[in-house]
Amino acid sequence: MSCSIDGGGRGRGGRGGDGQGSGDGPAAGGGESPARTPALGRVVPAPSSVEPAAGVHTLTADTAIRVGESDDARAVGEYLAGLLRPSTGHPLPVTSEDGADGVRLRLDAAESALGAEGYRLESSDASVTLTAREPAGLFHAVQTLRQLLPAAVEKDTAQPGPWTVPRGTITDVPAYAYRGAMVDVARHFFTVEQIKRYVDQLALYKINKLHLHLTDDQGWRIAVDSWPKLTSVGAVTAVGGGSGGFYTKDDYREIVRYAASRHLEVIPEIDFPGHTAAALASYPELNPEGETSEIHTGVEVGFSSLTVGKDITYDFVDDVIREIAELTPGEYLHIGGDEADATSQEDYAVFMEKAQAVVAKYGKTVVAWHQLAGARPAPGAVAQYWGYDDTSAAERAGVLGLVGQGVRLILSPADRTYLDHKYTAEEELGLKWAGLVEVDRSYDWDPAAYLDGVPREAVLGVEAPVWTETLETTEQLEYMAFPRLLSTAERGWSSGGEWDEFRLRLAGQAGRWEAMGITYYKSPTVPWDEV
Ligand code: ACM
Repeated sequence: MSCSIDGGGRGRGGRGGDGQGSGDGPAAGGGESPARTPALGRVVPAPSSVEPAAGVHTLTADTAIRVGESDDARAVGEYLAGLLRPSTGHPLPVTSEDGADGVRLRLDAAESALGAEGYRLESSDASVTLTAREPAGLFHAVQTLRQLLPAAVEKDTAQPGPWTVPRGTITDVPAYAYRGAMVDVARHFFTVEQIKRYVDQLALYKINKLHLHLTDDQGWRIAVDSWPKLTSVGAVTAVGGGSGGFYTKDDYREIVRYAASRHLEVIPEIDFPGHTAAALASYPELNPEGETSEIHTGVEVGFSSLTVGKDITYDFVDDVIREIAELTPGEYLHIGGDEADATSQEDYAVFMEKAQAVVAKYGKTVVAWHQLAGARPAPGAVAQYWGYDDTSAAERAGVLGLVGQGVRLILSPADRTYLDHKYTAEEELGLKWAGLVEVDRSYDWDPAAYLDGVPREAVLGVEAPVWTETLETTEQLEYMAFPRLLSTAERGWSSGGEWDEFRLRLAGQAGRWEAMGITYYKSPTVPWDEV
């Protein structure tokens, strides 16, 4: 690890320093044994309803994946076959032929109670039937099926089996529509392949949004044709002065395509008006007097600002948002707005109102960090709350003010969901300005009741960001994300849930991570060896 930062870094005013029941009893397995079947309901995130039955269904060399005539069901079926073939060694043909046996994928528009993402999984002697109203629901059903198979199913070489699924019925719908994860690719760059690997991991836990923090003081990571120096100059370095990197438009389209194939929507973030040193260094004319400035390679925040009074600033903002919106099939475009400490309050309000209007002009819904409270929110705006237990009453009041104006919230409480925070004081990686975030703490909150005065209806969902001041590799990113990512995934999908039960389901995932080669933190708060 080339980079260790002790409590420095982001965090305005930051202090330094220092599922519900599965209903089916103890786990039948997980762990190391490839042949042991996890109990029905030993799934993360916890399903809404689990009705176990006696016995198991077994996938064999004769099992077919039956998808009917639907192209959407076929795409999910092919994805499932791709997951299962290497480890099972079974052919698992994907067929439109109907039959009472095998793994059956059904899309049924009449299943209105399953909504946009819900599903039912019925496992019997003869078959496993996955039913959903929409393709995303079938895809989530496949993630549940994966977790019900022995962990060795995740390996990429043939394993002995048997490939058993506990019998019974799971009916499952998410609590929140927005269940996100964010990667800061600005402070350290992560390649398309690294992001795809993370997308696959997010999908396993039913995360449906990938927020990419594409720009910051230390680097501009996405090509903008009309302002090419943003990448030829602004992408060359990173925190610590190492080499940078950026996504070409084709790279970015590939991330969007791949994420969509896993039913994740990509939310690009261009952070304005602060966190803009890389842009200002690329184009001196964006500075107040046209002066040259440097890209930042440190980790401090709050010193850079676009020049709110200059016309060229708005040419820049319009071009960037237009080109990013063109790359974005999804609904949302995030414009940052956090830690704009070098922008006066008046300038901030002026800038954010103009920038929000540009997002609307290009057909997207604006997302901004909750400092948007310092400006008038655009109709339909979404604010991402990143406060923590010590966030001031005044700042929380600002968030309530936004909600009073119809703004919906994505909740990312830093001392629960920030995956870059240290687990313990001894940890080499990570930051700690919001405190230490052991795994139990990451689960210790309820989005519906988290902010006093914010009704559940105002909560669009949750998101787990990973900031990369100290993180440079896939192994480091995974170590910080696993297991805490699953806490946020469950808070977004499931209603309720107690740590004492969740920790068992968490422990049951370890064999899966080992089979997948995922690096994770073996927290003493999780009974790894008891399941
Ligand atoms: C943030 O952590 N500055 C959103």
